Amino acid sequence: MRTGVWLVGARGSVATTSIVGGLALRAGLAGSTGCVTELPELRGPALPAFADLVFGGHDVATTPLCKRAEALATAGVLPGRLVAALPDELAAVEEELRPAPAAGSQAERAAAIVRDLTDFRDRHRLDRVVVVNVSATEPTATAHPAHADPATLRDALTGPDEVLPASSLYAYAALTAGCPYVDFTPSTGARLPALHTLAVERGLPYAGHDGKTGETLVKSVLAPMFAMRHLTVRSWSGINLLGGGDGANLADPAANAAKVESKQRVLGETLGYVPQGGTRIDYVEELGDFKTAWDLITFSGFLGTGMRMEFTWHGCDSALAAPLVLDLARLTAAAHAAGQVGPLTELAFFFKDPLGSPTHSLGEQWTRLVEFTRALHTGLESADGHAG
Ligand SMILES: NC(=O)c1ccc[n+]([C@@H]2O[C@H](COP(=O)([O-])OP(=O)(O)OC[C@H]3O[C@@H](n4cnc5c(N)ncnc54)[C@H](O)[C@@H]3O)[C@@H](O)[C@H]2O)c1
Repeated sequence: MRTGVWLVGARGSVATTSIVGGLALRAGLAGSTGCVTELPELRGPALPAFADLVFGGHDVATTPLCKRAEALATAGVLPGRLVAALPDELAAVEEELRPAPAAGSQAERAAAIVRDLTDFRDRHRLDRVVVVNVSATEPTATAHPAHADPATLRDALTGPDEVLPASSLYAYAALTAGCPYVDFTPSTGARLPALHTLAVERGLPYAGHDGKTGETLVKSVLAPMFAMRHLTVRSWSGINLLGGGDGANLADPAANAAKVESKQRVLGETLGYVPQGGTRIDYVEELGDFKTAWDLITFSGFLGTGMRMEFTWHGCDSALAAPLVLDLARLTAAAHAAGQVGPLTELAFFFKDPLGSPTHSLGEQWTRLVEFTRALHTGLESADGHAG
C-alpha cells in the first residue's frame, strides 16, 4: 500500500526526525524502537510497510531539510551517522517539500494546497496520502459562524476574512483532496462541525489531538492508578522547561494557553475532579529539544493521611514524537483503506486531548488500540480470503 505522508511543518524538528527515521527504517539502518505499530500486538498486514511511505509536505520556512537534519544531529536528537548515510534520500524528500501558500483568499490558498496534495499523489502513484499536522501550535481559534457547515464555510473562504486558522485550512484542503488528516498539535485542525461534516461527506477518517509524549503520558498512567486505589489527589503541579522551535513558539502566551489546556484535561477526566495546581511551560533556549518536566503530587489515603510523590522526566521531544507520527500515518492509512470515516477515537492512545475517547487512561486506550488494529488486520485477511 503506497502511502504518502504529507507533513504540515515539514522542516520542523518533529517532521525532520520523522522523515530521517522513516528513511533509516526503510534502508534498514535503524531499529524500530519507539514505533508502537512494530510491537507484536499491533504489527500486521493491514499497515503499510515503512518501505511504502513516501514523504512530502509544506512549511513556511525554507531551511533545507538536510541542514535541519544536520542541526538536529549536532544537538544530539538524531544520530549523525544516519544523516550522513541518507543524503540522496533526503534530497529526494526535499524535492517534495512546498512553500506554504501565503497569497490570495483562504479559498485560493486551500486550492493551492489541494493541488500540491493531488500532484504528489499522482506523481508517486500513491494509494492514499495522510496529512499530518506537525506545524507550530496556534492560539485557540476564534469562533466564526461559517464553522458550522461546509457550504457556508466554502462561501466564507472566498471573502477577505481569515475564517480558519492555518491548521483548519490544511484540514479543509486535505479533506477536499480526499486525504485523511491527523493533528499532532493542540491546534484546532479538523475540530470544527463544518470539517467533521466534510470528512463524513467525503468518507474520510481524521485523528487528533496533540501527541502524548512526555509529562502527559506519565500523567495518563499515574492518574488512573490514584483513581483505582481510591486515593484522593489533592494537588498536582508541573513545570515543563523546553527549548527548540516548539519552546520558542510556546513562549507566546496565547499558544502557551492552548497547550496548557490540552495538558491538564487528563486529570479532571480521569479523577472525576480537578485537584489544585496547574501546569507551566517555560522556554529555556539552552535545552533545545530536550525537555525536563518536574511534577509534585500531594495525595491523601486511609483516614486522611497525607502523602506526596514527585517525578522528573527528561525526554528528547522529537525522538519521542517522530515514531508516533509514523505510527499514526500507518494506522490512519489502514483505517482509510478499511473504509473508516470520521474521528478515529481508537487512536486516543497517542494523544493528550483525544477526539471522542471515552477514557484518558493509557492502559484502557492501549486495549482499544489493540482491538482496533486487530480488526483492521482481520478485515484485510478475510477480504483477501474472500477475494481468493
Ligand atoms: N515533540 C513533541 O514531543 C510534541 C508532542 C506533542 C505535540 N507536539 C507539537 O508538534 C508541533 C511541532 O513541534 P516541533 O518541535 O517540530 O516544532 P518546530 O518549531 O521545530 O516545527 C514547526 C514547523 O512548523 C512550521 N510552520 C509554522 N507555521 C506554519 C504554517 N502555517 N504552515 C506550514 N508550516 C508552518 C515552522 O516553520 C516549523 O518548521 C508543535 O505544535 C508541538 O506542540 C510536539
